[in-house]
Amino acid sequence: MNSDTYRERRAQLAQALRQAGGGIAIVMTAPEFLRNRDSEHPYRHDSYFHYLTGFDEPHSGLVLRADGHSVLFCRTQDAAQEIWTGHRLGPEAAPQALGVDEAHPIDQLDGRLPEMLNHQSTVWTLFGAPGGLEQRVSGWLGTVRDRSHLGSIGPGSHRDLALLLDEMRLIKSPQEIATMRRAGAISAGAHARAMRFCAQRFRAEPGGSVREYEIEAELLHEFRRRGAQSPAYTSIVAAGANACVLHYAASDAPLKADELCLIDAGCELDGYASDITRTFPASGRFSAAQRELYDIVHAAQEAAVAATHPGARQRDAHHAAVRVLAQGMLDTGLLSRDQHGSLDDVIASTAYRQFYMHGTGHWLGRDVHDAGEYLALDEPAFEQPDGLGGKVVKPPSRRLQPGMVVTLEPGLYVRPAEGVPERYWHIGIRIEDDAVITEQGCELISRGVPVHADEIEAWMKA
Ligand code: GLY
Ligand code: MN
Ligand code: MN
Repeated sequence: MNSDTYRERRAQLAQALRQAGGGIAIVMTAPEFLRNRDSEHPYRHDSYFHYLTGFDEPHSGLVLRADGHSVLFCRTQDAAQEIWTGHRLGPEAAPQALGVDEAHPIDQLDGRLPEMLNHQSTVWTLFGAPGGLEQRVSGWLGTVRDRSHLGSIGPGSHRDLALLLDEMRLIKSPQEIATMRRAGAISAGAHARAMRFCAQRFRAEPGGSVREYEIEAELLHEFRRRGAQSPAYTSIVAAGANACVLHYAASDAPLKADELCLIDAGCELDGYASDITRTFPASGRFSAAQRELYDIVHAAQEAAVAATHPGARQRDAHHAAVRVLAQGMLDTGLLSRDQHGSLDDVIASTAYRQFYMHGTGHWLGRDVHDAGEYLALDEPAFEQPDGLGGKVVKPPSRRLQPGMVVTLEPGLYVRPAEGVPERYWHIGIRIEDDAVITEQGCELISRGVPVHADEIEAWMKA
């Protein structure tokens, strides 16, 4: 994306600031994080900062006034340091390269900010952002107040910039969607590769096993081979019963031929995440019990897809998926009718949560759990089930609009328990795809990997 894209976003944010009463916004990029001793984690910019600047150097910040004036703070050029850590843009080149009005060295931030805050009605920052900005803002405001005898008047209010920026980030532009489509295609390719890898290994050695980390390596290979910068989140590669641990981290457990493998992994491409889950039989053929549960989860996802279109509420997909999953629980005997009653009873009592305990989707974008309000805050609150068996007073979930991107990720996770048919024990299944809301409905941008059980078996056999 060229600098015009970011300039337009800053102009849009400035307009939102004016509509919200004016003021000045400060957005810092992410700090660098040490991993251990003097080794650093790979650097990742802050999603909000990058959304407004396209600039990925650490130690940078943006100050934007409601009249649209933009000031970048960044590292100065330093020939000696650049030998070690590479090229720095520097404040001299930044206005031309990034389209900002002014740029200054980052170590002038504390010196310049009190004057920039002078005579502003409101200071806007992202509440809770890492990096200690809140404390610095408080110091700058104190300095402005100390200069009141010189005529300085500091902002009387401090507001959360996420209120404005999240609404912008929630609706993706065609350019952003194009990047997300590419990220989805790469991630789908990685899942397809992992399936084939397992099938080949078990064909070569039918009684053997494959370690989870070997499968993870296939994913990473495909991400990087096709230009993605990194995984968008810690990949989950879960063999057999490990799939019932929702945030299981890829490890070294052996996957055996008769088990399912659950992979939840997606790449980050040019700052945008993808988020895909597939569950497949290690050697390429589902057992009868695995297939029964898989088909229920697949049907639940189809119901979620059908409920995902402009005008529908974000939460409708969850309700649609829960109905199918809960019906499946009754049909298979995971939940007994004698004990739990009808489908409506199971939903009202939330008994289904024994086997399906998470939501069916979230916003997706620069962050895997992307920015954006889930509730229709402009609609009245009312009492409704909280999904945990209690009640809560809140507005309904918001309506979907073209340009929003959501995940659709139903699952079933069966831990051994009294009354639960043993043939299903230790089976964990999730199916997750990424959906762009279009004018007509939604477009699944992660379907470059089979999802129907028959298609998975055919792919793994080929
Ligand atoms: N991979 C994180 C999630 O599915 O929400
Ligand atoms: Mn997800
Ligand atoms: Mn996921």
